[in-house]
Amino acid sequence: MSAHQLNIAIFASGNGTNAENIIRYFNTGDSHPSGMTVSLVVASRPDAYVIERARRLGVPVRVIDRATLNDPDLILPLLRQYGVDVIILAGFLMMIPQFLIRRYPEKIINIHPSLLPRHGGKGMYGRNVHEAVLRSGDTRTGITIHFVSEEYDRGRIIFQTSVDVEPGDTVDDIGSKVQLLEQQHFPRVIHETFAS
Ligand code: GAR
Repeated sequence: MSAHQLNIAIFASGNGTNAENIIRYFNTGDSHPSGMTVSLVVASRPDAYVIERARRLGVPVRVIDRATLNDPDLILPLLRQYGVDVIILAGFLMMIPQFLIRRYPEKIINIHPSLLPRHGGKGMYGRNVHEAVLRSGDTRTGITIHFVSEEYDRGRIIFQTSVDVEPGDTVDDIGSKVQLLEQQHFPRVIHETFAS
């Protein structure tokens, strides 16, 4: 391990397709000598499938509840224990507390499955976002990768890319297109953002 090794914690609540993709990119094989590694997955629900994915890939997992996330005396020592430098929110449902954002300035990144500022904010998660896109008649959607700030879904945008919403597309069609963009871009954008 080099002196500049950066440790990533992935925070996730659900299926974990992004978490798995990020872990594969940074932790497996030697094709990405990025100087970064995923050292911890934090799950907000004991039944989240991301837990299974992380275990299979040999990454430690901790399940935390809201009280733990919101208590500096509990969450900060956990992150210290795994040497966490960078936090990636990959489908994480709980709101990140202010003290954590201040402790990790421009070191917490979120992915949102639409072109922010469209369809962001509280309750806008996964499928709800794709439903809102369809309802509003948008002809394009996409992904937004951004720093997490104290204003929900409003932090500085690092990367966006878009795809057509075609006539006849269902919510599932939109979800598949967006997931493809996430798989194609998220690990690379994390890598480029923190590469020294
Ligand atoms: C992803 O589409 C991510 O963009 C979205 O949740 C999904 C998680 O999927 N995040 C948000 O909606 C944040 N507001 P995954 O668990 O399979 O990675």
